[in-house]
Amino acid sequence: MKCVALAILLFLISIPIFLKPVNGADDTISLAQPLTDRMTLVSSGQIFELGFFSPGSSKNRYLGIWYKTTPHVVVWVANRNNPLTDFPGELAISSNSSQLLIRNQSKAILWSSMSSGRVAKNPVAQLLDTGNLVLRENDSVNSELYLWQSFDYPSDTLLSGMKLGWDLTTGLERYLTSWKSIDDPSTGDFTYKMNITGLPQTILAMGSTRQFRSGPWNGVRFSGLSIAGDRVFKSSSVFTKNESYYMFTTIVKSLHTRVTMNTSGSPQRLILQNGSTEWNIMYSVPYQRCDSYGFCGANGVCGVNNDPLCKCLEGFIPTSPEEWQVLDWSNGCKRKNPLKCQRGEGFAKLDGVKLPDLLEFWLNKSMDIKECKEQCLNNCSCTAYADSDIRGGGSGCLMWFGDLIDIRELRVKGSDQKMYLRLSAADMKLIYNKKKKKKMLKMVIVISTTSGMCLLLGVIFWCTICKSRKRVRGSSSQSKNDYIELPMFDMATIAAATNNFSDTSRIGEGGFGPVYKGNLSTGQEIAVKRLSKDSGQGLEEFKNEVVLISKLQHRNLVGLLGCCIEGEERMLIYEYMYNKSLNHFIFGENKNGSLDWKKRFDIIMGIARGLLYLHQDSKLQIIHRDLKASNILLDMNMNPKISDFGLARIFGGGEIETKTRRIVGTYGYISPEYAVDGNFSIKSDVFSFGVVLLEIISGKRNRGFSHSDHHHNLLGHAWLLWNKELALEIKDSSMEESMSIESQVLRCIQVGLLCVQKFPADRPTMASVVVMLSNERAELPWPKEPAFFLERSSIVEDTKSREEELYSPNETSTTLLEGR
Ligand SMILES: *[C@@H]1O[C@H](CO)[C@@H](O)[C@H](O)[C@H]1NC(C)=O
Ligand SMILES: *[C@@H]1O[C@H](CO)[C@@H](O)[C@H](O)[C@H]1NC(C)=O
Ligand SMILES: *[C@@H]1O[C@H](CO)[C@@H](O)[C@H](O)[C@H]1NC(C)=O
Repeated sequence: MKCVALAILLFLISIPIFLKPVNGADDTISLAQPLTDRMTLVSSGQIFELGFFSPGSSKNRYLGIWYKTTPHVVVWVANRNNPLTDFPGELAISSNSSQLLIRNQSKAILWSSMSSGRVAKNPVAQLLDTGNLVLRENDSVNSELYLWQSFDYPSDTLLSGMKLGWDLTTGLERYLTSWKSIDDPSTGDFTYKMNITGLPQTILAMGSTRQFRSGPWNGVRFSGLSIAGDRVFKSSSVFTKNESYYMFTTIVKSLHTRVTMNTSGSPQRLILQNGSTEWNIMYSVPYQRCDSYGFCGANGVCGVNNDPLCKCLEGFIPTSPEEWQVLDWSNGCKRKNPLKCQRGEGFAKLDGVKLPDLLEFWLNKSMDIKECKEQCLNNCSCTAYADSDIRGGGSGCLMWFGDLIDIRELRVKGSDQKMYLRLSAADMKLIYNKKKKKKMLKMVIVISTTSGMCLLLGVIFWCTICKSRKRVRGSSSQSKNDYIELPMFDMATIAAATNNFSDTSRIGEGGFGPVYKGNLSTGQEIAVKRLSKDSGQGLEEFKNEVVLISKLQHRNLVGLLGCCIEGEERMLIYEYMYNKSLNHFIFGENKNGSLDWKKRFDIIMGIARGLLYLHQDSKLQIIHRDLKASNILLDMNMNPKISDFGLARIFGGGEIETKTRRIVGTYGYISPEYAVDGNFSIKSDVFSFGVVLLEIISGKRNRGFSHSDHHHNLLGHAWLLWNKELALEIKDSSMEESMSIESQVLRCIQVGLLCVQKFPADRPTMASVVVMLSNERAELPWPKEPAFFLERSSIVEDTKSREEELYSPNETSTTLLEGR
């Protein structure tokens, strides 16, 4: 036993030797041993490599650091503005000043590292696994004592652990500068810096022209950024007397992540999975059009949910209405009624906005907001004020003078970031009157509705009775030829195929009756749906409906093979789906293997397309009414197929109508307007689709969902996380491997939340859903509160995960307006 252990140990120890670069270099150079053009340093964990290179089609030689793994992405360049143009050079340490030097063949110095003023006895330069090249005393590994480090002089890339910002004790500023082009790493026009005048904010600029800014730091976050950290990396922002910087650290070991400014000045967060050869862009700045600096001009507000994107601040009107009309917002807005610094002026509160740029401003961190307001009122050039730090209910005073530039509405509504905009006395009066009018209107409505309600109820009741009477009489009649095309199976065949409907053949139970698996004598596998006997329809009507439904053909709908009608029996014969239903794959501990994100996304798209076909593309407009994970079947190739479509027609009556006699549906998937009022429309299906979508992403059932922090269902949970910018947390943990698709997952979550909004009119149609899911560039509306956003009582909450069917013809409680 001992021998084996020893052998394994020896083997493990010997691995690094095998992996050593062939050229024999390791990760360190010393005084005696410069680095020539043909050698490289490789960090001890084989992550980064340092050496001379020529970018793109250039012949010039540069000293740089790049990822050792393919693809070789250069993250740092030493002599970016002083390349070796003709002959190769070397990297050496100067003996008398402890600096790194790049020399050409004639020993002329092309580049040298900043001197720390200290001289080391025995200096060495080492390439670390973080991608940092450090110059230090040979026997000291204390990072405080580095004589110099490349992390202090970034090129176009920020790596995990690198700081973007200021060392205030030495005055050192670390910032990113783009390359000129992919062939030329010399300093380009674009910079990304931490600006610390007033409150800190990061600023992307071309030359001195601002292009994007994060918004001032409000004590919690940069007021204009909605993307904080997530599970891939952790952000930290440190603002003290000695230091002011932003930094991120990668959390997931199997990933590399970096922020690189591309040559057209867009900082992008990229991520590479171990073993992958492709860097994926997680996101880039500017992220949305509203991110572009001053997009709406002075005193304009940009909102991605607005149409058009720009509007004027309250009390302001377009400077040039003609330009504004044609969506040219560059000249911004001006005051409707100029400030006169008179009595009666006041402030309008703006919630959840990115604070305006700090161009002309005044900051006092110890003043409180009341004093701030006074101060602003008393100073005639003050146009707005805000807390300078929102922690603990807010403190400090930030005042703006003159025009307000680069304001946008944030994705987080009603957030803790507030701002107060000064209005003229005339505008204050206007607002006051508007408020008063609203109040009056409300009262009128209340009075008139209560009296009108009684009348209305009577009319509705009467109408429902009429309508359902009509329905029973006027059954749709189809031409005889139609159902000849539909194969009719006889009872004996089906009984033989299903072992006489034995329990072992039974594979499921739906709202409409049990489902059996069968084998026809031809060898074909079938699924047989034996309908409950009380469809409430005549034979002809039933046949007509089945014929209609059999004509619906789409790759995401289960194919109907035929039907069987004998005596009281009514059966539908479908193609058998090899992989059963979706719920076997997404829920529970014993799920049949985990689905990766790509598969899940394909399934989501498939369901969306199938439903779109039912709603819109087929000749009949079919509302499914019972869409749920167990009604999504998967074929051999895991293509999703919607089943049980059209059954609601058979059971609920053929017409598309807004009230149904019977409610079919399943708790957890059914929309509020349908569950409570029996109102259904395509938007009720959209709701169920949203639930299924969120279940697919989270691997959890909406119904029976529980969480230690609250008693909301899955929808409520997703909504809470969404508003905390933590939506990705609902992602099924068994999908951990695919991190590069965060933006797609987020998009899906957003679409899901849009689908489960409380009011049907707010929910998108399936056509928009398909567009929003498949088009990365589509800008999505911000979701409103989902339906059923009420905490359930923890005591009466049943955590059964079993689905409860709502279909029950005799149950009066769910069919209040039934017109039998
Ligand atoms: C270091 O030595 C070089 C020549 O070897 C000389 O040119 C340079 O001035 C010296 N620097 C210092 C700080 O002594
Ligand atoms: C830089 O990134 C932006 C945003 O992703 C993109 O639009 C632009 O084409 C990129 N530029 C280059 C040169 O790749
Ligand atoms: C308004 O405040 C600014 C900044 O404190 C100050 O420079 C200016 O003089 C003030 N103006 C008046 C009229 O008080």
